[in-house]
Amino acid sequence: MAFIRKWTRQNICESREGIEAFKMSDKIINMSLNAVCPYFTMFPLKFPYSILSHHANPGDWIIDPFCGRGTTNYAGRLLGLPSIGIDSSPVAVASSEAKLANVAPDAIIEAAEQILSEVKIAQDVPTGEFWDWAFDPSVLNTICRLREGLMRSCLLDSHKALRAILMGALHGPRGKIRQSYFSNQCQRTYAPKPRYAVKFWKSRELQPAFVDVLEIIGNRAHRYYQQLLPSCGGYILHGDSRAQETYLHLSDGPKIKWVLTSPPYYGMCTYLPDQWLRLWFVGGPSNVEYSTNGQLEHSSVAGFSDQLRKVWKNVGTICRPDARMIIRFGGINVRNVAPMTVLKESLKNSGWKIQTLKSAGFASEGRRQAVHFSKSSNNALEEYDVWAKWEG
Ligand SMILES: C[S@@+](CC[C@H](N)C(=O)[O-])C[C@H]1O[C@@H](n2cnc3c(N)ncnc32)[C@H](O)[C@@H]1O
Repeated sequence: MAFIRKWTRQNICESREGIEAFKMSDKIINMSLNAVCPYFTMFPLKFPYSILSHHANPGDWIIDPFCGRGTTNYAGRLLGLPSIGIDSSPVAVASSEAKLANVAPDAIIEAAEQILSEVKIAQDVPTGEFWDWAFDPSVLNTICRLREGLMRSCLLDSHKALRAILMGALHGPRGKIRQSYFSNQCQRTYAPKPRYAVKFWKSRELQPAFVDVLEIIGNRAHRYYQQLLPSCGGYILHGDSRAQETYLHLSDGPKIKWVLTSPPYYGMCTYLPDQWLRLWFVGGPSNVEYSTNGQLEHSSVAGFSDQLRKVWKNVGTICRPDARMIIRFGGINVRNVAPMTVLKESLKNSGWKIQTLKSAGFASEGRRQAVHFSKSSNNALEEYDVWAKWEG
């Protein structure tokens, strides 16, 4: 489907759900659960995993103040390390929470059945041309019943896992034999923009198919939660990492040794509208809102660096004296700014001192989604990994 981006997307390499494992030394690292819900601009699991597996000690705490879909948290979990994630997007939070859930597939399926037995009639079913074309009516009804049940309460791990599974299955390509998404033909990573999507479906006479929601949940529950993973401490916070209040109750907790993160690249400000359908599922509006609620502002380089500096200072307040911060950062070619100028500026007077700065390659390399979306490797800008130490 031709919802092609005009600009380069941040470094991504394992967005295709088919790629489920990578090899580190002799060990196969299972990354099925990391793909529970598509997200964009995440870094490859191998990036945080290899840093932590080489440098972290048992009991070290990790934080990612821009956790996105929780790649850092998942890497920590695979190594039995506790972690905290912060993100201002409810979709990111819901996806990251599922990475820490300790649950077996059957409990997820039971949770779905239980909700459907309790919420017999959906109170809030969105209407309009987009919804008529996007989902078969009875499928939409079942999705809405599950949505309402999860909006009432989503504290149990089985519910957190179910929510991420449903978000992941909400929209995506139609299968030739077996269906694994609820929607009419769509991209899985980006939410369809209603006007274009309806035009696309109408012009191809693509009616939404009936799919068995519970069967899709069951298949996905087994795919993502079959393997028992180490349980580790940690949690995900829905909040603005620029705001001191977000860290208030963290100051009494364990001190952080590793800050591993990738902030939005300068100019990348469409996290919420690009995920509007999954945002609706976790309680947002049933239309695209071009809001930047809680997201970094991208109006000037100086302003952007100032906001990042606030985040670096904030995380410093909950770090150990020997803490290390590793930031992956790059740029998009629609903003003609050298990424390292932005990042270095943000680290000035932040309490963090740069130790090393290394190229992480180009976003066009490998299977990164930059290529998938931009269709032109010329759009890819070089990415960097910056290591800094906390000096307070
Ligand atoms: C590049 S993505 C992080 C991806 C992550 N490394 C992963 O692998 O999934 C940046 C994230 O920053 C979040 N974000 C933007 N502004 C924020 C803010 N002020 N506070 C917290 N999170 C923010 C966005 O919602 C987005 O999920």
